[in-house]
Amino acid sequence: MTSAEADAPAVLRTEAITKVYRTGAVAVQALRGVSLALAEGDLVVLLGASGSGKSTLLNILGGLDRPTEGQVWFREQNLTTLSDSELTLYRRAHVGFVFQFYNLVPSLTARENVALVTEIATAPMRPEEALDRVGLGARLNHFPAELSGGEQQRVAIARAIAKRPGLLLCDEPTGALDSATGITVLEALVEVNRDLGAATVLITHNAAIQAIADRVITMADGRIAGDSRNAVPLRPAQVSW
Ligand SMILES: Nc1ncnc2c1ncn2[C@@H]1O[C@H](COP(=O)(O)OP(=O)(O)OP(=O)(O)O)[C@@H](O)[C@H]1O
Ligand SMILES: [Mg+2]
Repeated sequence: MTSAEADAPAVLRTEAITKVYRTGAVAVQALRGVSLALAEGDLVVLLGASGSGKSTLLNILGGLDRPTEGQVWFREQNLTTLSDSELTLYRRAHVGFVFQFYNLVPSLTARENVALVTEIATAPMRPEEALDRVGLGARLNHFPAELSGGEQQRVAIARAIAKRPGLLLCDEPTGALDSATGITVLEALVEVNRDLGAATVLITHNAAIQAIADRVITMADGRIAGDSRNAVPLRPAQVSW
């Protein structure tokens, strides 16, 4: 364990989680025993081949799904024992999600899309502040169709961070973007990770992106196959792909 890991408390811990998906007679073992502690504020890049269990793990960390076996703790709270409605409250209070496709409401402006979340959060930032943090302070009243793909993804990031989540979970956030646009989206993610201190997990197929991480976790066949730290993470603009 490095000194950074020893110093920072874990925001999230899993112990020996497994996940089996059953469809009729077919069982798919997506996770085969994952034990992991995420430090507060860490930026983690999660790599691994298609089907290795990355999204399954992320969905369990975020309370979108439950493990078949094993335990998950957010700070002192054991998520595995929560009812469905308690798990929804956990997500609403503590987890920001960013997916490959932005899932914005087309009939609402950027500000209104972010306000959907801030209206039900406990101590949110104003939608204007969240959009300002991702460089869209001048596009508050624009509809998704009036924004580029990268700008729409930054609205989705503003929506995810406006509740000041302890955890920011991103599944292929640059998967639909060209590399220059992807860099602007990663810059926005890194900045909110550093400024707000949300532990951030970023799934990507693009191995070059691992250079921006504090910690790089690689999955293979439902298990953690690699786990290392970058002494000096690069800025997204320093990464080329
Ligand atoms: N809802 C589901 N029902 C049945 N099997 C599933 C389901 N979701 C995922 N799987 C299976 O679980 C395994 C892990 O899937 P997962 O989506 O976690 O992989 P991944 O690493 O995110 O892959 P990718 O890089 O392609 O997104 C795969 O074999 C997949 O087919
Ligand atoms: Mg996936």
